[in-house]
Amino acid sequence: MNEKTLTGKTAIITGGSRGIGKAVSLKLASYGANIAVIYAGNEEAANEVVKKIINEYKVEAKAYRLDVSDFNACKETVTQIKNDFGTIHILVNNAGITRDGLLAMMKENDYDAVLNTNLKGAFNMIRHVSGTFIKNREGCIINISSVAGILGNPGQSNYSASKAGLIGLTKSVARELAPKGIRCNAIAPGFIATAMTENQIENPLLERIPLGRMGNTDDVAEAVEYLVFASYVTGEVLKVDGGIAM
Ligand SMILES: NC(=O)c1ccc[n+]([C@@H]2O[C@H](COP(=O)([O-])OP(=O)(O)OC[C@H]3O[C@@H](n4cnc5c(N)ncnc54)[C@H](OP(=O)(O)O)[C@@H]3O)[C@@H](O)[C@H]2O)c1
Repeated sequence: MNEKTLTGKTAIITGGSRGIGKAVSLKLASYGANIAVIYAGNEEAANEVVKKIINEYKVEAKAYRLDVSDFNACKETVTQIKNDFGTIHILVNNAGITRDGLLAMMKENDYDAVLNTNLKGAFNMIRHVSGTFIKNREGCIINISSVAGILGNPGQSNYSASKAGLIGLTKSVARELAPKGIRCNAIAPGFIATAMTENQIENPLLERIPLGRMGNTDDVAEAVEYLVFASYVTGEVLKVDGGIAM
């Protein structure tokens, strides 16, 4: 992946239908990659992204409804994507949820749902694409973590644990699969303007952001672009946070 083209490559973007994932899907398509857009339930949003990708970038794209926390369903969807596109080269584990609440009152369900989607979901997808990546001796995995996984955040003990876990997962996968030509990196966004940040317990305070503004989805998509082409970078956690966690 040294040249700045992804023509002939296939990328899976989980949560590729909205927010950061949508920007990532469009960014990789703009370099010629075919895109498998994974979404949880909002079919209309997913179909719109697929339509935009096909119309604007003339690559292949298809939407897949999948709950990434379901191990067997991930296996089936990865097989389906391989059948549809031939093979897979890039996996962006971006699907994520929040179920914020103060620790002393957090429901078990809210802890489990966040860990199962954000952390186990990434494991499930990596687990099921890894055979293909190893066979191809090529693969790029990018996990969307968060500054909450580095700094912690009051009211987000479940979310922070899932995002810190993603960093450990990233580094282990990077070490284990590097000899097979596979890279694995993480991105830790700060406060990015999407549906997810609309209802946070603690509203982002601009004073906490050295660069003085919230991020936008393109800021994160540009980091994904960098890591996709950065052939000598693996096991890295790239902060895209306006300086919050420096
Ligand atoms: N926004 C921020 O400030 C920020 C900061 C740091 C990290 N992040 C991380 O960046 C990622 C994207 O965040 P965002 O703000 O763009 O979120 P978002 O706007 O809420 O979009 C979430 C996406 O994930 C999908 N999704 C949710 N649960 C899923 C599941 N179980 N299986 C498959 N897909 C699922 C959704 O599909 P449907 O539309 O079908 O529900 C949607 O496409 C998340 O991992 C988040 O934790 C965000």
